[in-house]
Amino acid sequence: MGFPQERPRRLRRTGTLRRMVQEIRLAVTDLIYPLFVVNGRNVKKPIDSMPGVYQLSVDNVLKEMKEIRALGIPAVILFGIPAYKDAVGTSAYDPGEAVQRSARAIKEKWPEVIVITDVCLCEYTDHGHCGIIRDGEIVNDSSLEVLAKIAVSHVSAGADIVAPSDMMDGRVAALRSALDRENFEHALIMSYTVKYASTFYGPFREAAGSAPRFGDRRSYQMNPANSREALREVSQDLMEGADIVMVKPALSYLDIVRAVKENTCTPVAAFNVSGEYSMVKAAASRGWIDEKSVVLEQLLSIKRAGADLIITYHAREAARWLMEGVD
Ligand code: PBG
Ligand code: ZN
Repeated sequence: MGFPQERPRRLRRTGTLRRMVQEIRLAVTDLIYPLFVVNGRNVKKPIDSMPGVYQLSVDNVLKEMKEIRALGIPAVILFGIPAYKDAVGTSAYDPGEAVQRSARAIKEKWPEVIVITDVCLCEYTDHGHCGIIRDGEIVNDSSLEVLAKIAVSHVSAGADIVAPSDMMDGRVAALRSALDRENFEHALIMSYTVKYASTFYGPFREAAGSAPRFGDRRSYQMNPANSREALREVSQDLMEGADIVMVKPALSYLDIVRAVKENTCTPVAAFNVSGEYSMVKAAASRGWIDEKSVVLEQLLSIKRAGADLIITYHAREAARWLMEGVD
């Protein structure tokens, strides 16, 4: 069969037809909204490189949550800006810090909201690396002990899901056994399984104050040139008990999202990262692109590639646009 019997355009003739045969659909339940939380009261500090994104104190987190709930967004992921930093990231497992207090406050008011916490050291260490340093090297196994402590402290505060983003080897197993030891066997682990050493994280590091003071993250995050290695990370995380595997960044790595989807039976998440967000915002503010349709097209492409869940700074606006209906 070929032309003229085959006429794909017949299925595209009217809006109703196009909607009927549409293969995938973006839903608000796919979205996870990131929040940057700080200590203090009535703080709402804008992030220059991420228009529309703020560092929020707990009282303002709760205000924001009202809107997030009204929009139907089911989950948030918390990133903390601590009051103090040291070489070993002590503030990361301080129950009085912003992440723990926010988790507690959100779950108290909205127990049905899924609270995810980013588990890492870079925001909490004075050197800005994601692990413990010895002789100028980021050491793996001593970092695991601290990361496990952080995860336990987040779940103690009410987090439903912990999301380790440090890229140390064996972190899922370390977190799993620490959580189970504390009778938190119900707590989920969403692992940043395939996290590349990406320049697209630039604006986030401004937002979270987490840029490394020396060197870079290439001894622990993955080389953007590698895709087979992604599957190695996936099989290891699955063996260690990850409940959800994540690929990050999303848009320049859609091939990886697809490969991971085809090699796992767990849900797959993708992180539409800060640099991806900022570029869209910058172009939209100059009127060079139509923000709504660009964002919805990008999110759709991430889902089409295989993501079941999408972490995105666009979540609030996207949820509103989805409510309005997409043509
Ligand atoms: C912390 C962390 C980072 C991001 C999420 N968790 C930054 C990094 O690894 O340097 C990036 C998120 C984004 O860019 O939106 N390890
Ligand atoms: Zn980190």
